[in-house]
Amino acid sequence: MGIRYWEKERMFQLDTPNTSYVIGIADQEGFLGHVYYGKRLSGVQGAERLLRVDRPLEDWQVYNRDRLSFLDCFPMEYSGHGVGDFRESSIRVKDSGGHSAVLLTYRSHEIYQGKRKLEGLPATFGTKDEAATLAITCRDDAVGLEAVLEYSVFEDTDAIARSVRLTNLGKEPLVLEKVMSGCLDMDNRDFDMITLHGSWARERRIERKKLGHGVHSVSSLRGESGHQEHPFMALLESTATQTAGDVYGFHFVYSGNFIAQAQVNQFDSVRVVMGINPEDFAWTLCQGESFQAPEMILVYSGQGLGGMSRSFHDLYRRHLIRSPYRNKKRPILINNWEATYFDFDQDKLFDIAKEASQMGIEMLVMDDGWFGNRFDDNRALGDWKVNEEKLKGGLKALVDRVNGLGMDFGIWFEPEMVSPESELYRAHPDWAIAVPGREPGRARNQYVLDVSRREVRDCILDQMFRVLHSANIRYVKWDMNRPLSDLGSAALPAGRQGELYHRYVLGMYEMQERLLAEFPELLLENCSGGGARFDPGMLYYSPQIWCSDDTDAIERLRIQEGTALIYPLSTMGAHVSVCPNHAVGRVTPFATRGFVALAGTFGYELDVTKLSPQDKETVRRQVVMYHRFNDLVREGDYYRIASFGDNHLFDCFQVVSRDKKESLIFFVQVLGEVNQKSRIVKLQGLAGDRSYDLREVVMDGKDTQDIIRESGLSFGGDLLMNGGLVIDRPWGDFQARLFWLQEKQE
Ligand code: DGJ
Repeated sequence: MGIRYWEKERMFQLDTPNTSYVIGIADQEGFLGHVYYGKRLSGVQGAERLLRVDRPLEDWQVYNRDRLSFLDCFPMEYSGHGVGDFRESSIRVKDSGGHSAVLLTYRSHEIYQGKRKLEGLPATFGTKDEAATLAITCRDDAVGLEAVLEYSVFEDTDAIARSVRLTNLGKEPLVLEKVMSGCLDMDNRDFDMITLHGSWARERRIERKKLGHGVHSVSSLRGESGHQEHPFMALLESTATQTAGDVYGFHFVYSGNFIAQAQVNQFDSVRVVMGINPEDFAWTLCQGESFQAPEMILVYSGQGLGGMSRSFHDLYRRHLIRSPYRNKKRPILINNWEATYFDFDQDKLFDIAKEASQMGIEMLVMDDGWFGNRFDDNRALGDWKVNEEKLKGGLKALVDRVNGLGMDFGIWFEPEMVSPESELYRAHPDWAIAVPGREPGRARNQYVLDVSRREVRDCILDQMFRVLHSANIRYVKWDMNRPLSDLGSAALPAGRQGELYHRYVLGMYEMQERLLAEFPELLLENCSGGGARFDPGMLYYSPQIWCSDDTDAIERLRIQEGTALIYPLSTMGAHVSVCPNHAVGRVTPFATRGFVALAGTFGYELDVTKLSPQDKETVRRQVVMYHRFNDLVREGDYYRIASFGDNHLFDCFQVVSRDKKESLIFFVQVLGEVNQKSRIVKLQGLAGDRSYDLREVVMDGKDTQDIIRESGLSFGGDLLMNGGLVIDRPWGDFQARLFWLQEKQE
């Protein structure tokens, strides 16, 4: 790892363990150009040619005559607006005269060990030994604007974190109308583009398509990252696979409106920009004020998509998640949502907890419906006082009883929302986001609180803290069940309503920061109607996020595959639920549901008191399985072997321990086929020169602890990776098998 400045070439070289990123300063004007991003380089000799300054910069007269042609093809490190580069701009600024042209050029730079915090925003982190940062200061004197472009590299991970801080150096206010966090110009190498798409209960489906000319984008205008599109984009060679080929991944550490764009221009160059969605964004910067844009992560992999996934996983596990639970086994929880919905009282919850505790489940989470007069989802959001009609004797009494079973207790909140039918709304109607004179649109019969306002945040946190201090509560599920609309804040002046979307996100981040400061040991799980705010920004606060409201094991295969493309398995909230599944009505074997949930945080979401004795026994065995394998699943390297989304028949993925001594192979036959021979899956990530014993994890051993079945077979790692593992097909649909390889002990 390291950052070097090559004086003669006027170039910066940023190195991660296996990649290099090179930036050059061109010409006396100080255009900052992108030179290279790819496999690690020994130096930059001759790299000037890659800047592709096709116009003769030395001859001022000739150059000035065709300045626009130059600007329209030069690979810009941070593109300007309105001065001749007609590709996507990275920034647009309105000055007091109403003009919007801007072009930032190099002034100075600083290289330092470590990484500074981004004020008010989630961001990756690293100590002086773990990270190094390049800060390049650029200016546009005509506008009076300074930009500091920061790039951090990590000594143990092939990822680069970029961000931008803007400062108004002039006397008059400036209005930032567009601020991208990063820009990357490259030549198009017959790229494909991968993005993630979805809907409620159908999040993050992988979509791969050819990158043609013009602009291709994904975005959100919902005030959250959203179910529908994801703040992620990958460009990859059209021949790239899981294991081979060049892949560039871009991810945005932010939880609000975003845009990610790839543009192929007339010269077959590609420009990628990523940042806060400029739509409905206008941020006034007065004299001396600064604006910090969120962070963008760049990953280059020369080893296909799998290499990209593992770099993102490593970065997030090592340098983004802060929770004390980051590298710890999380308690196996049981959540009452699908078990009871709103229909519960203290006895019903206690009965579930009692039964669950006997099976080894470790925490009861009380979901929506415990506060105010919340008997259904039409009311009471904002009134965070225990409903003693439901919980007779109060919260502490219930928590104490549950603790008495040896179980922890967790609780649900939806802090950013208010119901029109609530004490809070009656007292403070102006605290809801709304446009004067227009009734705000309702979703799930609720409004969004204007958490950009300090007094609103204080009031909600105050109520939450009271509840959390009143009993021994170890876990909070922070939900958010509608997008933002009808944007208006009663606290912002007319000219500054364009700041609300971003101020809202900053306010929400501040609330989570304060919650964790008050309860540093809390296990926080974020959620947004399932996975609508599953993004790297939220991971900074919570080590796990509820992945989707669809808990069906087969639907989850695709949802979890798309999520695992960038996120570690340890972050994906996954529960075993009842069948027929509440979302799709599908019936799947209990064992299959357990294996699929094992590839996430693992927990339950059903009424265990109603399970058959056989299913109860399976739960006990799954608990044993979780304790045996969670360390491996949580900390291991992830390899995607086959995708049900592609082949429509089966799914297969693998987790390998860092030391390559053991591996789990998850195999799910979604659809059975008649008269077919066994299936061969080529494994990955093993040590080619070691031998492995093959065992299978089963749910039908002779007693509860007996979950491992010996196969009596051993294989060379190279054979498993090149020849493959032969899997006898199970009989029927939705059948799963879980294999365990362990290095042979001589
Ligand atoms: C949406 C979440 O995704 C569910 O798990 C549940 O908590 C409900 N909200 C409660 O309203």
